[in-house]
Amino acid sequence: MKRILITGGAGFIGSHLIRLLVNKYPDYQIVNLDKLTYAGNLENLKDVQSKPNYSFVKGDITDVPFIGELFEKNDFDGVIHLAAESHVDRSITNPLEFIEANIVGTLNLLNAARSAWGGREEGKIFYHISTDEVYGSLGEEGFFVETTPYDPRSPYSASKAGSDHLVRAYWHTYHLPVLVSNCSNNYGPNQFPEKLIPLVINNIKTNKPLPIYGDGKYTRDWLWVIDHAMAIDTIFHRGRIGETYNIGGNNERKNLELVHTLCDIMDDLLGRAPGTNRQLITFVKDRPGHDRRYAIDATKLKNELGWQPTVQPEAGLRMTAEWYLANEEWLNHVTTGTYQQYYEKQYA
Ligand code: NAD
Ligand code: DAU
Repeated sequence: MKRILITGGAGFIGSHLIRLLVNKYPDYQIVNLDKLTYAGNLENLKDVQSKPNYSFVKGDITDVPFIGELFEKNDFDGVIHLAAESHVDRSITNPLEFIEANIVGTLNLLNAARSAWGGREEGKIFYHISTDEVYGSLGEEGFFVETTPYDPRSPYSASKAGSDHLVRAYWHTYHLPVLVSNCSNNYGPNQFPEKLIPLVINNIKTNKPLPIYGDGKYTRDWLWVIDHAMAIDTIFHRGRIGETYNIGGNNERKNLELVHTLCDIMDDLLGRAPGTNRQLITFVKDRPGHDRRYAIDATKLKNELGWQPTVQPEAGLRMTAEWYLANEEWLNHVTTGTYQQYYEKQYA
C-alpha cells in the first residue's frame, strides 16, 4: 500500500500518468493535486474518476499553508511533481507566472516534503518531472546527456532549470530522496491545442492557416505521451535516488517535415485530396529566442532500467489525429472562450 501525490495530474502528461498508475497499482492510493488552470481539465480523467484508489484535490502548489496541511493530513510515500506552467510562448508574454508556479511552487513542495518526512526519509521519493529545454539549443549534431551543462534560453526553460537545481540542492543539503527526469517533446491525446501538434490538427479541421515559426527547420525529438508515463513509472520504482535520467523518443523531426506528415494523415482521415492541407501552411514571425534543435540521448535509462519507446512516430501521429477527430466535444470545450483570446493575441 502506497500513497502517492501527483501534482498537475489534470494536465496532458499528468492525466496519462494517473491513468497508468491507477490501473496498474490497485493497492496504491493516487492523490491528484491540481489548480485547474486553463491547461488542467478533469475531462481528461473521466474514466478513472470513480476508481476507489483515486482522489482529486483542487489547490495551488504555491499556497504554503494549504500544501503544509495536505502533507500533514496525508502520509505520502512519494511525490511525482508535474504541476507547472508549460508553454514557452506564454512564458515570453508573462515570465512571472512561470517563476511563481515552477520555481516557488517546487520550493514549497520540497519544504513540505522535507518537514513531513524529516528523520524518516527511508523509502520516500520526491520525483521531479522536467524538460530537455534546460540544456539549451543544439547545432546540427550531438545529443543532450545527463551531464550536459544547463543553458536555458526562455523564461519557461529558465524556470524549469531553477526548479531542477532546487530539487538537487535538497538532495545534497538535506538528503531529501529525490529523482529528476528531463524529457523531450511529448505528443498524443489530451494535449492542449496551444502546442504545435494539436494546434495543427485543430486548424486543419477548421481550415485555418497552419502557423510555422521562422523557416520551419527547428527540430524537436517527439515522444508518445504514454511512453513518457511508462518511463516515469519505471524511474519512480527503480531509479537510483539522487540521479537524473534523460527520456527521449529518438525521433527527431524538423517542424515543417512534421507538419507535412500531419497534413497528409489528415487529408486521408478527412477524405480530402492529397496535398490539400499542405496549402494551409503559413510561415509566420519567429518565436523570440527560439531553440534550434533538441535531441535526447536516453542511453542511461535504457541501459540501467531497460526502458525504451514503444510507439513509432507515424503510428503515433495517426492515433493522435484520430483521437482529436473522435473527441470533438473535448476539443470544443477547450477551444472556446479564453483560447480564442489567446490565439488572436499570439498569432495577430
Ligand atoms: P500541462 O500544461 O498540460 O499541465 C500542467 C498542469 O499543471 C495543469 O493541469 C495545471 O492546471 C497544473 N498547474 C499549473 N500550475 C499549477 C499550480 N500552481 N498548482 C497546481 N497545479 C498547477 O503540462 P504538461 O505538458 O502535461 O507537462 C507536465 C510537466 O511535464 C511539466 O512540469 C512540464 O514542464 C513537463 N514536461 C512537459 C513536456 C511536454 O512535451 N509537454 C516535456 C517534458 C517535460
Ligand atoms: O522539449 C520539451 C518541451 O516541449 C516541454 O518542456 C514544453 O512544456 C512543451 O511545450 C514543448 O516545448 P516546445 O516549445 O518545443 O513545443 P511547442 O509545441 O510549443 O513547439 C514545438 C515547435 O514548433 C517549436 O520549434 C516551435 C514550433 N511552433 C510552435 C507553435 C505553437 C510553430 O512553428 N508554430 C506554432 O504555432
